[in-house]
Amino acid sequence: MRRDLAQPRTVQVVSEQRRASARALAITRLALTDFRSHALLRLSVSPRPVVLCGENGAGKTNILEAISFLAPGRGLRQAPLDEAARKGGAGGWAVAASVEGYAGPTDLGTGVIDAPSAEAAGARPRRTVRIAGANVGQQSRLSEVTTVTWLTPAMDRLFAEAAPSRRRFLDRLTFGFDPGHAHRVAAYERVMRQRSKLLRTGGGDRRWFDALEETMAEYAVAIAAARRDTVFRIESGLRGAMGAFPHAALRVAGEIEDQLDWDSALTVEHTLRAKLASARATDAEAGGASHGVHRSDLVVRYLGKDMAAAACSTGEQKALLIGIVLAQARAMAADRGAVPTLLLDEVVAHLDRTRRMVLCAELSALGAQAWLTGTDRGLFSDLDGWAQFFTVADGRATPGPMGVAS
Ligand SMILES: Nc1ncnc2c1ncn2[C@@H]1O[C@H](COP(=O)(O)OP(=O)(O)OP(=O)(O)O)[C@@H](O)[C@H]1O
Ligand SMILES: [Mg+2]
Repeated sequence: MRRDLAQPRTVQVVSEQRRASARALAITRLALTDFRSHALLRLSVSPRPVVLCGENGAGKTNILEAISFLAPGRGLRQAPLDEAARKGGAGGWAVAASVEGYAGPTDLGTGVIDAPSAEAAGARPRRTVRIAGANVGQQSRLSEVTTVTWLTPAMDRLFAEAAPSRRRFLDRLTFGFDPGHAHRVAAYERVMRQRSKLLRTGGGDRRWFDALEETMAEYAVAIAAARRDTVFRIESGLRGAMGAFPHAALRVAGEIEDQLDWDSALTVEHTLRAKLASARATDAEAGGASHGVHRSDLVVRYLGKDMAAAACSTGEQKALLIGIVLAQARAMAADRGAVPTLLLDEVVAHLDRTRRMVLCAELSALGAQAWLTGTDRGLFSDLDGWAQFFTVADGRATPGPMGVAS
């Protein structure tokens, strides 16, 4: 038997044994209105994997991006909100979905209503969020309902980029373990902006700064603790891997995270407050804040090679990322009894045959609703009879395979 076939067959057995009682956090209905290339796209699916095939530019990634807006943040393209409004459309965009969430079936809606008129009024376009038919002020509330995790081709550069992208990646992984994390990150950034503005304008007295820095320090320590906890959980998730993706070693590098190794949360908070207070003059000059969790980084090493992720090959880096995302899903299944919705944009095309088969076996073991995209239907043959196939073309997603069948 060929070696590349031998491993996944073993995997299949393991996957059956490991299929936990965890539920898939899944989308059952999706409707896009004026979202990028899609004027009106509707899709009904079951909690099994979904494969979107179509030619370049057909709108596959756009569908995944729309789903990524069911999580807090700026979506998987990190694009300005108004950019997603369909050119030639009314100006706004909307994504509506029914999801199988943590608390069962829930309707979600999000979008930007009429971005141009917001702009004309001098306001930045804001994204509204509806949960179970009610408007909620904070998009961070979405992480209480469901968890969506993604990998995109743009993330191939994650380890080469500056720290903010890796921090965002870690924070998004953390949303899956700690639904309050999104709110804390948003609140921390808001307070930090207030402090920076006060420093810039020269307003505010000492007590006002003390209060802001106290709040900042409280959030910072909670954020750092949650990130460390995520790394710990992902490492435990990595131990359950089937072995085709490299084993990563993760660490959060940051002064607050480091100090939490040996000091109590209260002491770390006091230290940060003192540092911020004594850095006011330099921060006023340089802008921003010279201390805090917005300066931390996610450090990843390829354990087998004892090599920094940034020094690994492109393929290895991608495999490391897939390993991490699968580990998060495994850890969430174990800790929360729920598996995140996974958006895997063009992931399969870059994998060799063995890794493709193992990825499918891992998804099967997890029972995850993974959304996979590609131009070549043949690459998804391992998912035949299990995944739901759609052809994306002309702004529509039609059930059934496109072109070449396996
Ligand atoms: N705001 C917008 N309004 C209308 N069309 C848009 C908008 N933003 C992007 N597009 C179009 O959407 C298309 C890209 O869609 P998408 O990235 O989803 O393609 P894809 O199917 O993933 O292609 P590939 O296989 O190349 O990754 C492009 O043709 C682009 O011009
Ligand atoms: Mg694409």
